[in-house]
Amino acid sequence: MSPIRKPAPPKPFLIRNKFVPRGKLILPGDKSIAHRALILSALSKGKTILKNFPIHADSLATLNALTALGVSIRRKGSRVLVHGRGRQGLKKSRKPIFMGNSGTTLRLLLGVLAAEDFKTKVTAGKYLSVRPMARVNVPLRLMGAGISAKIKGREEYAPIVINGGGLKGIVYRMPVASAQVKSAILLAGLSAKGKTRVIERLSSRDHTERMLKIFGANIVIKNNSITLDPDKVLVSPGRIYIPGDISSAAFFMVLASIIPGSKIILERLSLNPTRTGIIKVLKRMKAKIKIETLRGRQSGSFEPVGNLTIKSSKLKGTFITPDEIPSLVDELPIIMVAACFAEGRTVIRGAGELRIKETDRINSMVRNLKCMGADIRVRKTASGENIIIKGGRHLHGASLKSFGDHRTAMSMVVAALAAEGSCRLDDINCVSKSFPGFLAALGSLLKG
Ligand code: S3P
Repeated sequence: MSPIRKPAPPKPFLIRNKFVPRGKLILPGDKSIAHRALILSALSKGKTILKNFPIHADSLATLNALTALGVSIRRKGSRVLVHGRGRQGLKKSRKPIFMGNSGTTLRLLLGVLAAEDFKTKVTAGKYLSVRPMARVNVPLRLMGAGISAKIKGREEYAPIVINGGGLKGIVYRMPVASAQVKSAILLAGLSAKGKTRVIERLSSRDHTERMLKIFGANIVIKNNSITLDPDKVLVSPGRIYIPGDISSAAFFMVLASIIPGSKIILERLSLNPTRTGIIKVLKRMKAKIKIETLRGRQSGSFEPVGNLTIKSSKLKGTFITPDEIPSLVDELPIIMVAACFAEGRTVIRGAGELRIKETDRINSMVRNLKCMGADIRVRKTASGENIIIKGGRHLHGASLKSFGDHRTAMSMVVAALAAEGSCRLDDINCVSKSFPGFLAALGSLLKG
């Protein structure tokens, strides 16, 4: 089992050296795909080799949780070998299972544990323990799982005790656009009696559906409705290549766009259309992004893959609608940075989900960017929260806070590199949640 890492203590970071980033990067595999690849490999028949598997706190949280549930997993660098145990083949864990601070690990595994004929207690780290869990507990209870959680006000939180087995399929209309909730229901549906149908108003990322197909599940997708019939056995496809993480790539797309003279090439990147909102928005902002799609064997993956070349350009403000949010939800912090360096106004409508990510990312980004001199404000409306940024001001050096959040930290490093003067960030270690190699990747562009 990979060691359960305690989060490293906060490490302050001084951002002083300005440079023109130039060079090529192949980024570690996509975090969302990695969680699903581990889980479905564990629930299928046969062995699966995962390639370009990303090593970070969140992916290790899923790997360790599955190991605690009796799955044999061997890892050598970014190559992972999983010995599948089949559906409902997991073993009861005598000890509570720690999910770290990974929301995807906890929510998806609740779906898996709902199907297993035993009781499990799951616990979470400091940041995950304050994130809402009713959104996943409610549908899993409707399917027949016994779930008790910590209750505060009207919301449910970890730790959670889940008593699984004897599930029945349901038809569930999603009240929020959440791939984590959708995936938990589908994973539970794999071992339920009868079909499970999930209906989305706004489409969320579809990695679970794609991967279920690769493992031979009987899944039919029609418009916004996904129907899973649990009649098929899951069989390993043998190998899965995990393309580069577009959410990590987003920091480099914006960095190259806002620093004059930059050119960055990102190779073998995941270009799943439910995740490419960042590219669409940056292109609308007049970013210079060239996409080369890789097909068939060249891509080596069952997910869309491509190479991106990004050159600096004069960005313009844009308008982001609520319908676009699910396709770029994790990229909103870095989009706020891009908007500060763009000419004119950017409005992001319906950004409320950002309040319940690893930290309240509306608060963390607005506070930091204001400290640097940005014109950014939040407007609450009847239909949600909007963020309004008037770009084009020069940002200056400041003392910045990560709020323990990896994406806030990386966004602020990018903002600081493009600003005048030097910045101090209170904690850079939190990037280990999704991208421990972030600074090394940045450093490699220094020499490019
Ligand atoms: C994820 C879905 C998104 C995203 C998270 C990863 C996933 O959350 O913010 O970082 O892998 O399913 P929601 O599904 O809750 O929006």
